[in-house]
Amino acid sequence: MNKQSVRYTRLHDVDFFKRGKVREIYFSDDNYLMVATDRISCFDVVLPTDIPDKGKVLTNLSLFWFKILEDIIGNHLITADTAKMPQNLHKYKDVLDGRSMLVKKAKPLPVECIVRGYLSGSGWKEYIKSESVCGIKLPSGLKESDKLPEPIFTPSTKAESGHDINVAQDYVEKEIGKELADKIKKLSLDIYKKASGYADSKGIILADTKFEFGFCGDELIIIDEVLTPDSSRFWPKDEYVPGKSQPSFDKQFVRDYLETLDWDKTPPGPELPDDIVNKTSEKYLYAYKILTGKELGV
Ligand SMILES: Nc1ncnc2c1ncn2[C@@H]1O[C@H](COP(=O)(O)OP(=O)(O)O)[C@@H](O)[C@H]1O
Ligand SMILES: [Mg+2]
Repeated sequence: MNKQSVRYTRLHDVDFFKRGKVREIYFSDDNYLMVATDRISCFDVVLPTDIPDKGKVLTNLSLFWFKILEDIIGNHLITADTAKMPQNLHKYKDVLDGRSMLVKKAKPLPVECIVRGYLSGSGWKEYIKSESVCGIKLPSGLKESDKLPEPIFTPSTKAESGHDINVAQDYVEKEIGKELADKIKKLSLDIYKKASGYADSKGIILADTKFEFGFCGDELIIIDEVLTPDSSRFWPKDEYVPGKSQPSFDKQFVRDYLETLDWDKTPPGPELPDDIVNKTSEKYLYAYKILTGKELGV
């Protein structure tokens, strides 16, 4: 029997804003209440099976990184402490504790900001075809999971549904203007450098990661989740062998399982067996522990 998980939230007397693949967002005065559920999406399809505690890991890891990154960029967090949230939310404490944040409303930029230090996932697929990623020419002869000469900024579109598409910096400039495009590129690379240096000190390679930025008034801030196993590839340094896909603390484990099935990656996704669910839950909790040095009390 699996542990209890949270698939949907129903805060009856709170105005609902929207449901993403993983998060549910409510209005709370002038802010948003963002709740991370235990849903998992792979290949952009939300699977019918949940991963217990996953939403708590995503929330707490984001909180951890927001603090570390504070000297580079401000973020949307107001509080993650249910007791400090507006009174009408207190009765939902059991659902909200550990998996929710009251955040500032932002206007998200229309691009996903991805930084890659290693060649994997869609970056690797693109490289095989063109020896470049997002229009950035790379040396020839690189293998899957190879370290890149230097980290690269590889933005993508933000599809409302379906898959995001990798785009060149020119595209970003056309969408949001050159000045802002330059700014988010530099911020993304700076954040990657700081976070990958920190992860390295814990024996973890941060292969790639994705950020979202948004405007709160005139201020550009980082929003959504940061440097979690859902938004990043984390690889154990001591098992790193280029030339193949790497063991990791992220969804790759579930993706690898799904690749063994005869599933065409369109909805509905298949149920996950108990052993895959339990191992994935353990991987998420382990990622939290190894990166923060603390157990997540769940
Ligand atoms: N502070 C914020 N202001 C406005 N939108 C936000 C903020 N933080 C996150 N979001 C948006 O909320 C959604 C988060 O839910 P999620 O389940 O991760 O969605 P998705 O399926 O798009 O990944 C994303 O669309 C993200 O852009
Ligand atoms: Mg998301």
